Amino acid sequence: MENFIVKGNVSLSGNVKISGSKNAAVAVLPAVVLSRENVYLENLPDITDVRTMIEILENLGVSIRRRGRNALDLTPGNLSKIAPAYELVKKMRASYYFMGSLLARFGRAEVPIPGGCDLGPRPIDQHLKGFTALGADINIEHGMINMNADKLVGAHIYLDVVSIGATVNLVLAASAAEGRTVLENVAKEPEIVDLANFLNAMGAKIRGAGTDVIRIDGVKNFHGAAHAVIPDRIEAGTFMLAAAATGGNVMVEDVIPKHLEAITAKLRETGAKVEVEPERIRVKAPDPLSASDLKTFPYPGFPTDLQPPGMVLLTAAKGLSVITENVFDGRFNQVDELKRMGARIKVEGRTALVEGGTRLSGAPVTAHDLRSGAALIIAALMADGESRINAVEHVDRGYEKFEQKLIDLGASIKRRSEAGQEKLSTNQD
Ligand code: EPZ
Repeated sequence: MENFIVKGNVSLSGNVKISGSKNAAVAVLPAVVLSRENVYLENLPDITDVRTMIEILENLGVSIRRRGRNALDLTPGNLSKIAPAYELVKKMRASYYFMGSLLARFGRAEVPIPGGCDLGPRPIDQHLKGFTALGADINIEHGMINMNADKLVGAHIYLDVVSIGATVNLVLAASAAEGRTVLENVAKEPEIVDLANFLNAMGAKIRGAGTDVIRIDGVKNFHGAAHAVIPDRIEAGTFMLAAAATGGNVMVEDVIPKHLEAITAKLRETGAKVEVEPERIRVKAPDPLSASDLKTFPYPGFPTDLQPPGMVLLTAAKGLSVITENVFDGRFNQVDELKRMGARIKVEGRTALVEGGTRLSGAPVTAHDLRSGAALIIAALMADGESRINAVEHVDRGYEKFEQKLIDLGASIKRRSEAGQEKLSTNQD
């Protein structure tokens, strides 16, 4: 376990380059197993989840050559295994995307039931419903999901719940199913579009990604492709919210503003100034912010992954803000930690009442997942005095060089091991 020592009373200022999208990368990497030829991927974020995915691919038999920090050459030619290594898969939930891609490649897949995490229950009933509709026999025993399909056949599938994971998994499986698949009530996130673009570059026939209905005509063979992963809108939004929360002035670069419209709108509602250019956005908050209600929804709504940083911003906004978490049942694990820093927040089910205008004070707090970890670091930057953020390995899972990027914006952050000795960031070369 490692922790950050963070000095407070900081206003972030300067420019920050946004890395490639974690949630696009962890969907595109499992898709590589569909190809029989070389694949080149770039703009991959150098984060723990991507490194784990790379290990899983190598363990399956894909040979991988790093081309610089954020690019890979992958050769999936001699794939043989249908079961990604258990000890790797258990490290990250998104490894369950190998269910869809291995089923598409081999007609078989053996993947451990994904672990939960601190976001409340995370069922996979919609994934399994879709795989069954496509012709897979599913047997769950001893913690493993074993799937077999003599032949995957296109189907008309209506998702009961808008699910990014189920949409990714079913797009992967249906890409190789015989005939047409229609997926309805699917997730419309930019990461779904990015995956569809990559699969189509490999020869898939996918239409409608980014809308409620995706139509897929299955193909037998996938050829090689080159693909650059889209920028990480959640990382970008994290820095935008941090800039406003600390009364700073930050330019986030290498972003797609369209993907950040909900964050831009919410920031302007609180009184922050947001200047949008074609590939970068400047956020500044010279004056005190005002309260604003925040509701999370699937894209293009305000993303649930930015609800924890959004809550931290609202502790500094004068007045009462009501936060409604519509995506997960209980994604408020940052609240108790923020209350240790003096935040005045009351949680009732999926609603949190935030009494803004309170000055936070530095304290030892603990990250429970990567987004609440990022939120606590922002709170520590805003607070009076020094804070220690425990379990920062959560943050390393999804934010590339996070402390270095914040230091470059004027923060004072030191990474320490549990024993207390100072450590270089794990993200440094
Ligand atoms: C993805 O998780 C993201 N992960 C999460 O980001 C993100 O918080 C979440 O989508 C919501 O936006 C990746 O993209 C790797 P869902 P996922 O399936 O796919 C319910 C981060 O911080 N549901 O869209 O697991 C589910 O319980 C991570 O980067 C079912 O009921 O989320 C939830 O309430 C954290 N049955 C809702 O749907 C199912 O079969 C949305 O979940 C599947 C989901």
